[in-house]
Amino acid sequence: MHTPLHVHGLSHRYPGATRRALDDVDLSVRPGECLALLGPNGAGKTTLIRAATGLLVPDGGTVTVAGGDPRHADVRARLGVMLQATAFPSHLTVRELVVGAALRAGRTTADADRMLADLGIDDLAGRRTRTLSGGQQRRLQLARALVTDPDLLVLDEPTEGLDLASRRATWEHLAARRERGTAILLTTHLVAEAGTVADRVAVLSAGRIVADATPTVLTDQLPDRTIHVHTTVATASLAALPGVLTIDRAPADDPDPARRDRTSIVTRRPEDVLRQLLVLDPAAHGLRVVGASLEDAVATLGGAGDARGPRPTSTTHHDRKDAA
Ligand SMILES: Nc1ncnc2c1ncn2[C@@H]1O[C@H](COP(=O)(O)OP(=O)(O)OP(=O)(O)O)[C@@H](O)[C@H]1O
Ligand SMILES: [Mg+2]
Repeated sequence: MHTPLHVHGLSHRYPGATRRALDDVDLSVRPGECLALLGPNGAGKTTLIRAATGLLVPDGGTVTVAGGDPRHADVRARLGVMLQATAFPSHLTVRELVVGAALRAGRTTADADRMLADLGIDDLAGRRTRTLSGGQQRRLQLARALVTDPDLLVLDEPTEGLDLASRRATWEHLAARRERGTAILLTTHLVAEAGTVADRVAVLSAGRIVADATPTVLTDQLPDRTIHVHTTVATASLAALPGVLTIDRAPADDPDPARRDRTSIVTRRPEDVLRQLLVLDPAAHGLRVVGASLEDAVATLGGAGDARGPRPTSTTHHDRKDAA
């Protein structure tokens, strides 16, 4: 099987623009893999997707989809595409639209009906597309993109406007597709969702790929760990442990007794801190150690957008050494 998507040295500058929308981008997606493309507004995600789907002719570099040029119709047939803004022909019904896509790709009417049922929109089959709600339209777009059984599925914000149940159903369905080898390239602003559904995350910043790794590798790059624990050890004693950066604690006179000894300790040496804490307080309990979130990691990489800026270093945790 060909690599579903291979992008090499891709560069593009829109006419009149001062800087490149894409600058020497390398990227590939393997069969069955899901790659999430993240980055702030204007980073170049849509430009990359347009180049990957043959809608834009880049200034430089190469794009191959299933081994061919996505501008050729036979290669485009290997692609399922769900763009962010799609206008459906409003005179068609839901079923007519999906059946049409199926037949054009050499599939059958039965394939189309199964697709509608799988995505839970069979009850809408006879409806005109213009009468659909936003979430129903997203599901119809997905049905149309999937019914051709593509090698590569390109999804621009696929779960935007979907309720929680529909989001879950969508990802479950896509997971089953991936088992059969379908590769997915997706963009999303829901970074946490990308972290749970994608095998790999590529972060675009000002047209350049600044990271391409698994979500775990990206979050592990941030050294801060937060230890959540219930302990009666005095805050000053905790602060004296080697490697403790900040401590956050409910007030000692908190009216809720269950909260009084709840403590969050930020450190880059969680094992050292825990070993010593458990010596000081063998009855410490409710222990949880959490790493940085994918949002933190993406923000640190410069992919969070101008409004958010670089990640602050632990300033959200105020030091409560005075609390005990
Ligand atoms: N048709 C166009 N003509 C000129 N400049 C464009 C055009 N389309 C996009 N750009 C510029 O290219 C850059 C990348 O835009 P692109 O739409 O690829 O970003 P994006 O990552 O998809 O952003 P968003 O998260 O807002 O969708 C931006 O600076 C944008 O202003
Ligand atoms: Mg975009």
